[in-house]
Amino acid sequence: MAEQVVLVTGTGGGIGAACARGLLEDGNKVTALDVKPVHETVLNAAPEDNYIALNVDVSSLDACRDAVKQTIDKFGRLDAVCHFAAIHSTLNWEDVSSEEFNRVLEVNVVGSFHVAKAAGEWMKENGGGAIVMTSSGSVQASGVGGGSGRGGPAYVTSKAAIYGLNRSLARSLGPHGIRVNTVSPGATETPMIAEYTNASRDNAANRSMLGRIGEPEDVADVARFLISDKARYVTGEVISASGGGSV
Ligand SMILES: NC(=O)c1ccc[n+]([C@@H]2O[C@H](COP(=O)([O-])OP(=O)(O)OC[C@H]3O[C@@H](n4cnc5c(N)ncnc54)[C@H](O)[C@@H]3O)[C@@H](O)[C@H]2O)c1
Repeated sequence: MAEQVVLVTGTGGGIGAACARGLLEDGNKVTALDVKPVHETVLNAAPEDNYIALNVDVSSLDACRDAVKQTIDKFGRLDAVCHFAAIHSTLNWEDVSSEEFNRVLEVNVVGSFHVAKAAGEWMKENGGGAIVMTSSGSVQASGVGGGSGRGGPAYVTSKAAIYGLNRSLARSLGPHGIRVNTVSPGATETPMIAEYTNASRDNAANRSMLGRIGEPEDVADVARFLISDKARYVTGEVISASGGGSV
């Protein structure tokens, strides 16, 4: 497969780190972006010339545009985006504050728009590309109300909004040769589910038709498929990586 230059967000966390690591191990170039330092396993995956690690908050459009600019300056192009950065919110409807609700929307929804917009602006003028965003099985599942480490209304709402953003951007960017898709993970072994109770873990594993919680690579590989040429006629789709557990 041809080498790709990929902007990966959330590389300080579980799924983003797995995606960046896999891309680098297979000889691709990566801009790794997070508010946290990039995961050390990413740095060990390839020579320093093959990646840039940037400290960026996706709630700033200017910072996202600068990350795209730095990618072009370093690698000469941008082929794809795998956007995983997000924050969790586990408070239920009675406890979550308006401030927290707004912050979750700002990072998870507007942040997704910023990443896609910054990349799309460059791709539109430069022959197209592929963008993958991230939703969550909690949007479908059996209804998730927060507590026990699971997503509450702010988080679930933010991840539902990605369905609309995905379809809208896919429609607008398609004529420019830019595909937009979304991966929707079920419960996946990362710091995001660190507060899961044992009952939540058992429940998630049992919900999966494969009887286990996902590994970060299970999700990262779906995103990598969606940015690859193998998915050249796929756009506007939400693909679950949940062991069948999120519907
Ligand atoms: N782990 C799960 O069970 C699960 C389930 C469904 C969906 N998801 C989604 O998968 C994606 C990856 O999650 P993960 O499990 O790897 O979580 P994680 O918490 O391990 O990683 C998320 C990363 O996003 C970064 N981030 C947070 N706010 C940011 C900001 N404003 N700007 C830049 N980076 C920021 C964090 O620092 C963190 O490194 C997220 O979109 C999450 O909502 C995860």
